[in-house]
Amino acid sequence: MSATGPDVSFDFTGRTVIHTGSAQGIGRATVEHFLSSGARVIAIDLDPTPLGELQSASDGRLILVGGNVSDPSTADRAVAASDGRIDVLINNAGVLRDRVHWKISDEDWTTVLDVHLRGSFNLIRACTPHMRAAGYGRIVNTTSYAGIRGNFGQANYSAAKAGIIGMTKAIAKELASFGVTVNAISPNAHTAMIESIPFERREEIRKDVPMQRFATTTEVVPAIAFLASAEAGYITGTVLPVDGGIAI
Ligand SMILES: NC(=O)c1ccc[n+]([C@@H]2O[C@H](COP(=O)([O-])OP(=O)(O)OC[C@H]3O[C@@H](n4cnc5c(N)ncnc54)[C@H](O)[C@@H]3O)[C@@H](O)[C@H]2O)c1
Repeated sequence: MSATGPDVSFDFTGRTVIHTGSAQGIGRATVEHFLSSGARVIAIDLDPTPLGELQSASDGRLILVGGNVSDPSTADRAVAASDGRIDVLINNAGVLRDRVHWKISDEDWTTVLDVHLRGSFNLIRACTPHMRAAGYGRIVNTTSYAGIRGNFGQANYSAAKAGIIGMTKAIAKELASFGVTVNAISPNAHTAMIESIPFERREEIRKDVPMQRFATTTEVVPAIAFLASAEAGYITGTVLPVDGGIAI
């Protein structure tokens, strides 16, 4: 406590962050923020090479792990790179395989559920023994308004993102006594994922946002940093929308 009130710095100096889906979009902006806030970041992506320049400028604080989050060995390799200290886990990796449900193949279903839900679970299960032992941890999962209110053409994605909300709340209860918080953000930002949606459908989504626009990726980062901060230690099991009001 300072003379003027509580210390609120969101400083990540000395913290280790494991982050998935790091090479572009919201993930890339988040990785950049953690690095500039002093953290050591272990960044997972299917292809982390776009982060090469950032790694060169990071003084060894950015470690790249190439791999698929749906494979448990990717989580194991990231944890091994951490030397056992993991303060923050950000589950952000994601894919779309949008189709009306009668056209969703077994592969479209499995891929989306595996990347979002199983992938997040794989990372959580690998990281939490270290967080529990340390008596400290911050986990931020990524859901979507699709998981809250459902989205046309996204039965697989809506199921995965709703599953992430349920998992977030269950594991928040399991870890509350260990000093580990588990929350989720629900973003709505202009990224390659949004660009992959056909223009007319994308415009329908944009018009459905009370703010009538998508966020920039950097507008999403403060919510993630807040939930990942030491200061947010009494917040767990929540979903924080950063979505211009689309879930209202
Ligand atoms: N952009 C939005 O408006 C929006 C809305 C709601 C939720 N989200 C969620 O936010 C997260 C980030 O979305 P984005 O828009 O930045 O996406 P993006 O497509 O721009 O980036 C996703 C990143 O995840 C990586 N990735 C994909 N599959 C992976 C896998 N199996 N293993 C490891 N890495 C993998 C990709 O290579 C990419 O770098 C996702 O979970 C997405 O579902 C985004």
